[in-house]
Amino acid sequence: MPNDYGIEGKVAIVTGAGRGMGREVSRKLVDLGANVVVNDVSLEDAKASINDISTSGNNEMFAIDGDITNQNDVDNLILKTSEKFGSIDILVNNAGVLRPTKVLDIEEEEWDWVVSVNLKGTYLCSRAVLSSMMSSGWGRIINFSSTAGKNISTVGGAHYTAAKAGILGFTRHLAKEVAEYGITVNSVCPGLIATEMVLSTINEAEIKAYEASFPISRMGQPYEVADLVAFLASDKASYITGASLDINGGDLMI
Ligand SMILES: NC(=O)c1ccc[n+]([C@@H]2O[C@H](COP(=O)([O-])OP(=O)(O)OC[C@H]3O[C@@H](n4cnc5c(N)ncnc54)[C@H](O)[C@@H]3O)[C@@H](O)[C@H]2O)c1
Repeated sequence: MPNDYGIEGKVAIVTGAGRGMGREVSRKLVDLGANVVVNDVSLEDAKASINDISTSGNNEMFAIDGDITNQNDVDNLILKTSEKFGSIDILVNNAGVLRPTKVLDIEEEEWDWVVSVNLKGTYLCSRAVLSSMMSSGWGRIINFSSTAGKNISTVGGAHYTAAKAGILGFTRHLAKEVAEYGITVNSVCPGLIATEMVLSTINEAEIKAYEASFPISRMGQPYEVADLVAFLASDKASYITGASLDINGGDLMI
């Protein structure tokens, strides 16, 4: 169906899209007519997302596995996307990991992993798509921060909070650097969203207690975040850059 998002025919990479919000973002971008590269560290999960999403026939999906903290894997992601589709127009830095560990118990290795997947991965993938976006004079980068980035994480530890706060700083800085090339860079800050990341970390009673504390007394659904990401990826958001958009049922109002 024709739409006024301006996404039709565009090429998008969504990292960590083998499940959860990444899968729903991929589904939404495909529905709007984009060609979507589904990246995940698990090829099996990336392929499962592709099998779960139907395209109109005019656009295509493509699975590329890779660890976004690894420069060689990121190079491979960009190379294969360029070979398949030519250019890269939209990057959704969705991949992330969370651990609920308290600071006293966080081992150095866990700190490095959590900060690296969330923050370094966002930097490596963003840097890798810039030349393609600069040469076409249009680009959209959407980074996954969190309510954790503005307050503290409800579920994750200090490494997660620190990395998500870092993403907000990276977003603003990069947005300023690349605005002149027609590239916008924004963050989304979801609250508690019903995905494996949350459901495998806290129990039913804890979920109910969190839900009761939100003005909109429920968890968010992945498709609701996907709608916001699609808006930021579209021509409708052409004057928004360096911003962070909250989507948390009113959990945090600043
Ligand atoms: N669920 C929430 O409540 C919530 C809230 C705020 C922000 N977020 C953020 O939203 C994003 C998506 O979260 P989700 O809830 O869908 O999580 P999820 O755990 O369901 O999915 C994350 C995906 O990222 C992939 N991944 C992990 N490490 C990777 C790596 N190094 N390279 C490539 N892929 C990798 C995983 O395999 C997984 O498929 C994350 O950045 C998360 O921190 C989640």
